[in-house]
Amino acid sequence: MELEAVKSSYARWAPVYDKTFGIITGSGRRAAVGFINRQKNCHGVLEVGVGTGLALPHYHEELNVTGVDFSTDMLDKARSKVEKQGLKHVKALRQMDARELDFPDNCFDAVAAMHIVSVVPEPERVMAEMARVCKPGGKIVITNHFAKEDGAMAVVEKMSAPFANLLGWHSDFAMDTVLQQPNLKLVEKRPLPPVNMMTFLVLEKIQTN
Ligand SMILES: C[S@@+](CC[C@H](N)C(=O)[O-])C[C@H]1O[C@@H](n2cnc3c(N)ncnc32)[C@H](O)[C@@H]1O
Repeated sequence: MELEAVKSSYARWAPVYDKTFGIITGSGRRAAVGFINRQKNCHGVLEVGVGTGLALPHYHEELNVTGVDFSTDMLDKARSKVEKQGLKHVKALRQMDARELDFPDNCFDAVAAMHIVSVVPEPERVMAEMARVCKPGGKIVITNHFAKEDGAMAVVEKMSAPFANLLGWHSDFAMDTVLQQPNLKLVEKRPLPPVNMMTFLVLEKIQTN
């Protein structure tokens, strides 16, 4: 998607997101945050595409969580949750393009990207940025819907693909797109409910020199 389409699409989604797409994607957020909460020596967490902040209340209170999103409408919802629920572990929520993360190299123990890789423009560039800011040995946790190779679902995905800018995501997004980073090793991959529609992936940052 183009950035302008992200902005307009998520301005439309923001008021209704939590009670629509947000409900369907709950298992992905539970799996990703649960995994991060169980990591030893994990302190600094970056959530890329934090959206309305649905995951924020579920991080362990001892973590330091930073969230970024391009949509100010989605971020406003996240800020309101942090304020209303007094989420002290959320250190910052910043408006930012995930293709150019304004953080130094190797500064987060874990990076979460839930339901965003099929939304962002240039997902390969976003993967490279997430890998850059993650510490060696740190984990990048992704949950997303990826294109099916065959069956009825694959037909539906292909039919909806031209409507990406309207929907707010690419329905036929290939998993391989997020598995190309030379410094990221796939360490876990499993399907998630409902009906295995979403996939949970964990990538570990390895030292390349
Ligand atoms: C489907 S929502 C997912 C929100 C949240 N992660 C969740 O699981 O509920 C996708 C989010 O990605 C954000 N996004 C899209 N492109 C982006 C970019 N280039 N940089 C930062 N955020 C982006 C959108 O604004 C939107 O909030």
